[in-house]
Amino acid sequence: MWKIEDHLTNKKGILHIGGVDTTKLASKYGTPLFVTDENRIQKNYNFLYNAFSKHYDKFQINYAVKANNNLAILRILRKLNAGADCSCPEEIFLAQKAGFRSNSIIYTGNYNSKTELEFALKSKVNINIDNLSLLHNLLAIGTPNFISFRINPGVGKGGYRGLTLGGDKSKFGVSVQDAKNGFKLSKENNVKHFGLHMMTGSAILDNDYFKTITTKILDIAEDISETVDIKFDFINIGGGLGIPYNPNEKPLNVTKIGMELGKLFNIRLNNSDIGKPLLMIEPGRYIVGDSTILLSRVHSIKKTTKTFVGIDAGMNTLLRPALYDAYHHMYVANNLNSRKMETVTVCGQVCENTDIVAKNRKLVKINEGDLLAVLNTGAYGFSMSSQYNSRPRAAEVLVSNGKSDLIRERENVTDLFKLVKIPKRLRK
Ligand code: LLP
Repeated sequence: MWKIEDHLTNKKGILHIGGVDTTKLASKYGTPLFVTDENRIQKNYNFLYNAFSKHYDKFQINYAVKANNNLAILRILRKLNAGADCSCPEEIFLAQKAGFRSNSIIYTGNYNSKTELEFALKSKVNINIDNLSLLHNLLAIGTPNFISFRINPGVGKGGYRGLTLGGDKSKFGVSVQDAKNGFKLSKENNVKHFGLHMMTGSAILDNDYFKTITTKILDIAEDISETVDIKFDFINIGGGLGIPYNPNEKPLNVTKIGMELGKLFNIRLNNSDIGKPLLMIEPGRYIVGDSTILLSRVHSIKKTTKTFVGIDAGMNTLLRPALYDAYHHMYVANNLNSRKMETVTVCGQVCENTDIVAKNRKLVKINEGDLLAVLNTGAYGFSMSSQYNSRPRAAEVLVSNGKSDLIRERENVTDLFKLVKIPKRLRK
């Protein structure tokens, strides 16, 4: 077994997650099935928290709800004392339902509607502004106690094309000048508390990058606080911490990153007038990514010039391979010990030729009826799934210390049309 996966074990050739037999989970709950290990989420969170808080005492993790918005998972994170990063009113609603307090929620939308801004203002969450015009729209509705700006620092990085969120081609963030104007206007309008934010990319495995961008945002914070004469309650460097999807990839050295950023904050804040802001990060992937496997049954194997292994999870269940050409490691869950290997292409059942979950992958020889486990599907797995090709969405299960609980029921055919209305004239 791949050594980073201590929640995944091989017992007599059968993959277990959190001590539970995956073949039993598949028989009990059906496939495709997302299975999340609760302890792994706790471990990831605590490891990250300790790595940073050891070196800088005012530290907070705001979990990025978009990565995985299951209420059970949100409750795990709330119990760990995380805050939440929400991208829309619906995520704010979910976070509040899971028990997150308003002042621990940051709302970072982009191109928000006035209704969305109004909702955020009423919810009393911390609003992070992505464009100056949005500040005007917000102030026309009311005065929040707090304002922050999402800065585009002019640089960005991403694990895949499309995951670079900063830089001059990005739709996100404001310039430093716009932020200055925005903070000035906020101050004139009696806003009392301020924060500074950036989110420049996702799935980053470069240890040095985080120090580089944190230095950048501290430079920007100093410049703004001097020009506009404000202090910051928090400086949020966004999420973006990558995880290894491919066994060739090295995990981030989070201990080192936490130490470097903590030191940087201590040194810089002693010599500037920014205040004593919280250092905030808002990871999604790092916390939940490797906590989850996707179990899927092999239904049919076709031999042409290649061998196609057809499973019941496709781009509708896990979009990342089709969208980013993303690699997801996988195992034949019911047959881990076989030595007979074969190179196959694993595909879903959707009528698109891009519906490929793994291309030319060397796996143990697969038979119809086998169970595949697709790894690292806890972040942007279920949350990006769809009903395309009229496929109901998968179920989700949480395992903890040898026990399993259903945390999202499998959709069925009525879920495909429950919101549909047929005009009277078409009913006959
Ligand atoms: N904060 C903001 C404002 C974000 O937009 C995101 C992710 C995060 C935090 C969390 O980023 P993370 O720590 O997970 O990298 N669908 C893609 C990922 C897109 C990320 C979008 N924003 C994927 O499947 O890899």
